[in-house]
Amino acid sequence: MIKQIKAQLALSLSPKRYKHSVGVSKTAKILAKRFGCDPDKAQLAGLLHDCARELTNNRLLSTAEAFGIVVGDIERCHTVLLHALIGSKLAETEYGVADPEIAQAIALHTTGGPHMTVLDKIIFLADVIEPERSFPGVDALRELAEQDLDKALLAAYNQAIIFLAERNSIIHPNTILGRNELLFYKS
Ligand SMILES: [Fe+2]
Ligand SMILES: [Fe+2]
Repeated sequence: MIKQIKAQLALSLSPKRYKHSVGVSKTAKILAKRFGCDPDKAQLAGLLHDCARELTNNRLLSTAEAFGIVVGDIERCHTVLLHALIGSKLAETEYGVADPEIAQAIALHTTGGPHMTVLDKIIFLADVIEPERSFPGVDALRELAEQDLDKALLAAYNQAIIFLAERNSIIHPNTILGRNELLFYKS
């Protein structure tokens, strides 16, 4: 199954994005073993997380409509955000992966959010720290991810929020909600 999905994915993504997806998949599998989650699910979710990432803005909007996805103001402004929600649907309709846990992890991988499962957190984090990533601070995130999933997630939220704020970009409210939730329950 993985082999077939990889072949199909390689046709839908640029070589660079395909390599990124394989990197997220491998990283997610390692994190799943470390933090007590199903490694096979993590591997699949990682592989498919960006399956809709290279649809054009028009395709993203029309596909969202076809799936009945509500396009809010933020998504209309930053159409690229829709690739997460659409990817979560395409995982089933195009790749035959009918697993609500995987679908949710794909849907949340860009913004994060509150009430994330361990699998959701792993995919969010694996997307940020996979081996192809090389932004300043990525090694510190990788080190945190060796020890504590929530600490690494908090640091990843901080990094994303600072990055967006410095560029006067919109910050999705789910990112703030996800970060706040980690701080509420921090001992
Ligand atoms: Fe993505
Ligand atoms: Fe990604």
